[in-house]
Amino acid sequence: MLDLPASVQAALVAGARDSEPVRGLTHGYYKYPARFSPRFARAAIETFTRPADLVLDNHVGGGTTLVEALALGRHAIGVDISTLAEFVATVKTTVFDETEIDRIEAWACRLANAVHVRKSSIHFADYAELGYYKHLSHPSRWRLRKAIEQALGSAMRLGSPRLEFFGRCVVLRTAQWALDGRKNLPSLDSFRDMLTENAKEMLSGARQLSAAVKGYSHLPTVRVINRSAAGLEHDDGLAHLQSPRLVVTSPPYPGVHVLYHRWQVDGRKEAPLPFMIANKFDGAGSSYYTMGDRKYPELKTHFDSIRASMSSVAALADKDTIIVQMVAFSDISWQLKRYLETMEEARLSEVFLPMLQGERDGRLWRTVPGRRWYSDQRGDTPGSQEVVLIHRKRGTTPMQPRRRLRIGVHSHP
Ligand SMILES: C[S@@+](CC[C@H](N)C(=O)[O-])C[C@H]1O[C@@H](n2cnc3c(N)ncnc32)[C@H](O)[C@@H]1O
Repeated sequence: MLDLPASVQAALVAGARDSEPVRGLTHGYYKYPARFSPRFARAAIETFTRPADLVLDNHVGGGTTLVEALALGRHAIGVDISTLAEFVATVKTTVFDETEIDRIEAWACRLANAVHVRKSSIHFADYAELGYYKHLSHPSRWRLRKAIEQALGSAMRLGSPRLEFFGRCVVLRTAQWALDGRKNLPSLDSFRDMLTENAKEMLSGARQLSAAVKGYSHLPTVRVINRSAAGLEHDDGLAHLQSPRLVVTSPPYPGVHVLYHRWQVDGRKEAPLPFMIANKFDGAGSSYYTMGDRKYPELKTHFDSIRASMSSVAALADKDTIIVQMVAFSDISWQLKRYLETMEEARLSEVFLPMLQGERDGRLWRTVPGRRWYSDQRGDTPGSQEVVLIHRKRGTTPMQPRRRLRIGVHSHP
């Protein structure tokens, strides 16, 4: 049992069960598939860490954990096998100074002028050759393709890699809105308007993040590492680092198909365009991002990958590290048990919240409102239940209760 005051447990449970739409800070920069709620990440960070502690997310996706950690004055490390996740998490955690904010503001005001059907655009021939323009040459889509190229050209003229990344992310978000899962494509005028709206909205998020960070006497740092979480403890970049106080993560769910690396254009045709917009290259097929093909019997590849990833977390952890995961299953009847066995094999022991002892199996469950990727499954949608699992490194003494801290407001150095 975790020894935590009842009010702290209640805040963690409320954060995990939150179903409000995602908003605030830089969270809306991109709709990364299977994001978890910022309130969940925030509640876990506030419950188990203090400012300047280190938080790790070893399947960082769109970077929700990192944004919340940064805004709460914690140092954070995010790891993901996807270069698109690396891009999104990096842009969302970039803290811009005032000069940069002014330059973004001026750019947002002139961005619409860059998009015009009669103006020229950059054709990214190397990406075209590699198939990143797939499904975009159709007569109904060439105008949008050209608008994306023009907006990217404008972002590339922003003059610094940090600003260019921000500009590219504005294009990424707008192009996702225009193409992904859409039956009717927007007009060029609507695309242009949305570009400006997104740029301004994202600028406001960037301002919020920078104001939050300025509230701490130390400068919280964030690192995003593009690699598999398996073997992370041997990464040169992590040598000599303190153990994380908290790991908050959500690995790919067993048997649940999520399209992390593609947009669905023109019905269900899968387009790799987001990587081109981010100036990244795609890793491989969908099983690369979902930890193995769900067609393998007993999801062996999946559980092997989860074991490898969480064994590395255990190797990085110390006796005070708490590991909080949000997980769902395509078939709870056997996968939850198998998952918990896999955590044991990774040398992690489960711990529980005393206040949930009378409830169901004593674990923190939440119901997920209908989600797009479940439509891929046949029959029932058992994945609409998610569970928050809490672990510690096996064979270590129970942690001392950590008081939830009020975040002091300090002047920035
Ligand atoms: C459920 S998503 C995480 C979403 C994240 N919590 C958010 O709020 O955006 C799971 C992520 O795990 C990543 N992933 C898959 N295999 C991995 C591995 N071996 N190591 C690290 N990350 C991996 C996927 O690329 C994907 O971004």
